[in-house]
Amino acid sequence: MRILLMGAPGSGKGTQAGFIAEKANVSSVSSGDLFRKNLSDNTELGVLAKTYMDRGEYVPDDVTIRMVLDWVNDPSNISGFVLDGFPRTLPQAIALDKELGSVDKVIFFDVPTADLIERLSGRLICKTCQASFHKIFYPSKNGMICDQCPDDLYQRDDDKPDVVTNRLKVYMQETQPVIEYYDQQNKLINIDGSKSVDEVQSKLEIQLND
Ligand code: AP5
Ligand code: MG
Repeated sequence: MRILLMGAPGSGKGTQAGFIAEKANVSSVSSGDLFRKNLSDNTELGVLAKTYMDRGEYVPDDVTIRMVLDWVNDPSNISGFVLDGFPRTLPQAIALDKELGSVDKVIFFDVPTADLIERLSGRLICKTCQASFHKIFYPSKNGMICDQCPDDLYQRDDDKPDVVTNRLKVYMQETQPVIEYYDQQNKLINIDGSKSVDEVQSKLEIQLND
């Protein structure tokens, strides 16, 4: 099963990726997490990506496509995976189709902009496992400590208000056409991502069993 997760910044891709991967019995990866891992390892790619991420811009297609296809082509991932946040430009979608033929399901989390801003402003991330929490909507049971790792939680640099505004703008310009691309292929599954985490999971479960 090859599954893509699409949706605006803060729409819940990272929150639901683990659940979806477990149900489909495959691994999941977030392109944003791959960039942040490169940055914490101080690689050339990580340093380059940071210059774009800090401004809320997309990292250039050539390096992004290479990084994600390397992960996809790993023998343990090639037959099935969940990709969170890739593709998000048309050249990325075309490169993925060229590499794989096609994907099975494209899950699109639909969330109103006002909710996205509220979610991103209160988000906390685990330093080690990158699990995503929210101060109010989805708090860790251990306060500022991850309840899965356990390591400290932090606020992402790109969740500051001015960067969030640009991320949402770039998303509308660059990623909206990718949603239409998969809709035309009849691959798109619309999920109302504005409901609670549990309600969204129930809807996902129905779609994954289909
Ligand atoms: P990335 O890390 O992928 O960021 P993003 O797409 O902006 O998405 P987010 O991770 O912010 O949101 P999410 O949908 O995962 O939401 P979450 O589950 O955390 O990318 C970062 C950067 O890397 C990009 O800006 C770009 O520079 C670069 N990049 C990455 N991929 C790229 C690509 N393909 N091409 C080029 N550049 C790329 O949830 C958000 C909050 O809401 C959390 O606090 C959570 O607890 C809460 N929440 C979740 N669900 C619910 C719910 N149902 N109800 C209430 N609260 C909820
Ligand atoms: Mg995420």
